[in-house]
Amino acid sequence: MRILVCLTDNRPEPWITALQEALPGAEIEQWRPGAMAADHAVVWMPPQALLDEQPQLQCVFNIGAGVDALMRLSISPQTRIVRLDDAGMSVQMAEYVCHALLRHFREFDVYEEEACNGRWVYRKPRERSQFPVGIMGLGVLGQRVARAVSQFEFPVLGWSRSPKRLEGVQSFAGESQFHEFLAASRILVNLLPLTDETRGILRRETLLHLRPGGYLIHVGRGAHLVEEDLVPLIDEGHLAGATLDVFREEPLRAGHPFWSHPKIVVTPHASARTLRRETVAQIASKIHALGRGEIPSGTVDRLRGY
Ligand code: NAP
Ligand code: GLV
Repeated sequence: MRILVCLTDNRPEPWITALQEALPGAEIEQWRPGAMAADHAVVWMPPQALLDEQPQLQCVFNIGAGVDALMRLSISPQTRIVRLDDAGMSVQMAEYVCHALLRHFREFDVYEEEACNGRWVYRKPRERSQFPVGIMGLGVLGQRVARAVSQFEFPVLGWSRSPKRLEGVQSFAGESQFHEFLAASRILVNLLPLTDETRGILRRETLLHLRPGGYLIHVGRGAHLVEEDLVPLIDEGHLAGATLDVFREEPLRAGHPFWSHPKIVVTPHASARTLRRETVAQIASKIHALGRGEIPSGTVDRLRGY
């Protein structure tokens, strides 16, 4: 079996070593133009040239959950696109969202500021029933986040394409229930995949449906948010603030207004990192599943785009 590795923004050597340990019989090398014809490729944001040169690939294994960068490429219809499913990401995402939610709800940002000024001041306790958490996307990550948030006894709502039955989560589905979902949410968590349907979904017109004093936790993809719309909504007081992990352009450029806005927290696309050990183990087990003639979990539905 032959495997090519092509990871934009990642050093390939440790991945090749780890894959080699997990799949001792395989021939594994970094992709370069003119590389050997392979059975599989392990990728993150590969160039079109790889796919053009390797139309025989059985599988392209994405070392992340979101496959939007792959869906922009032209990939032979016979090649399966396989995403990472969880592999240690969902617990990180739950930590990140709970941290942002609790920081906002318990006003830890205000306490930090007061402490910097040596001031001992209490904030009035707030009613969690007044902070319903709406999660856009109830897939691998969204469901884990919903479970974690419900442990803190916030009302939890979720929006997905198909309706879900999840304990403690009020489910909304499809475009027809989108505005109803937004109107019932005050904290909005975005965990949608980026597709033609979801690009620009976080914009003035949709965010205005949130309850007043809404708060955005944006961890999907930068292009979900119409960035120009966010600061005015905060400055007008409709939104209380936002925690943003993903941006239209990454890294976020120096001088971008998000960096300095007092109600916006910026993190560098770090909410759920790819973990190499878990990822390699998952790819190896999917390759074994293929060997048994099974369809590996995480196979992307190209028509849906995720
Ligand atoms: P997933 O398992 O594919 O779940 C996607 C969810 O979104 C599903 O519930 C799906 O509905 C819903 N959905 C898709 N299109 C929709 C639409 N048009 N309207 C309503 N709901 C829609 O994906 P995941 O593993 O949870 O990951 C979600 C996204 O998180 C990834 O695509 C990636 O962009 C992002 N992510 C970010 C980071 C980070 O570090 N910031 C890390 C990992 C992932 P159905 O259930 O009905 O299909
Ligand atoms: C990271 O953003 C991922 O999609 O895994």
